[in-house]
Amino acid sequence: MTDVVRDPRALREYIEMAHRNRFSLGFVATMGALHEGHLSLVRRSVRENDRTIVSVYVNPLQFGVALDLERYQRVLEDDVALCSAARTDVVFAPSVRDMQPPGRATLVTLSGITDDFEGVHRPGHFDGVATIVATLFNLVRPHRAYFGQKDFQQAVVVRRMARDLQMPVDVVVCPIVRDADGLALSSRNAFLSDADRAEALRLPRALVAAERALLEDDASPAAVRALLADAMSSERDDVEMEYGDLVHPETLAPIHRLDGHGVLLGLLRVGSVRLLDNRVVASPGTPAWGD
Ligand code: PAJ
Repeated sequence: MTDVVRDPRALREYIEMAHRNRFSLGFVATMGALHEGHLSLVRRSVRENDRTIVSVYVNPLQFGVALDLERYQRVLEDDVALCSAARTDVVFAPSVRDMQPPGRATLVTLSGITDDFEGVHRPGHFDGVATIVATLFNLVRPHRAYFGQKDFQQAVVVRRMARDLQMPVDVVVCPIVRDADGLALSSRNAFLSDADRAEALRLPRALVAAERALLEDDASPAAVRALLADAMSSERDDVEMEYGDLVHPETLAPIHRLDGHGVLLGLLRVGSVRLLDNRVVASPGTPAWGD
């Protein structure tokens, strides 16, 4: 049975009980509208921990445009049913009032790794993410927290925050779950028409082609960047690559020669829908990423 907890004080009581019992706690932070991508994190947490807590909270701090927040689907009943089927112990679904102290004075800000990519295209976004994730980590006090590789920069930000602030949590990054056609699952995909979706597929295909060029044809990073731009260009004016790059997986700095791991990051905008995807690449002889 999955408990739905709305009050942070009630959550604290549950967490204290769990810590007293020495249960290992797994945590998955979400904004709801759950799909198989989210559920892959939940299932892994359930496998690896005694208790799993899933938060469902649409965090106003991380949305630049109010419109984006408004169109975020809120379907808590369905989310609880999905969490329950995956054997989640607690769904924590707090109100904005309970999570946003009036006149908040504290923000968690990271420098360097937030300077580019989503940090440029969505100013303030990562302050909002880091602040809410830090707040949730303080409430839940998980041993392990599961994040998707799909939001690569976010996973890097959360890992670095936990390390820099010496938070006693292991941040686990889980593989991207895709639809059969290769598009990474995202609640934003629901806004794509059939024609949009055909355009959207340029993104995963460009990343696969870039990986192949790097590894099989020994293409230079500069050539790979050109290939990404080319593979994502469209005749439609409202389809635009916001970025496509090859960067270091921890610093997110551009790579000029692949030696070890790199990550191909891409963002393709189709109409008003921003689609994110990435692929981790490794030069020959490098162990698998995450090992
Ligand atoms: P949300 O977009 O709901 O995503 C919650 C988690 O699910 C994130 O860690 C995200 O990377 C992961 N996820 C989404 N799609 C995925 C896919 N196709 N495959 C694997 N994992 C996937 O990310 C957020 O919420 C918020 O920023 C949050 C961390 C909750 C802070 O508010």
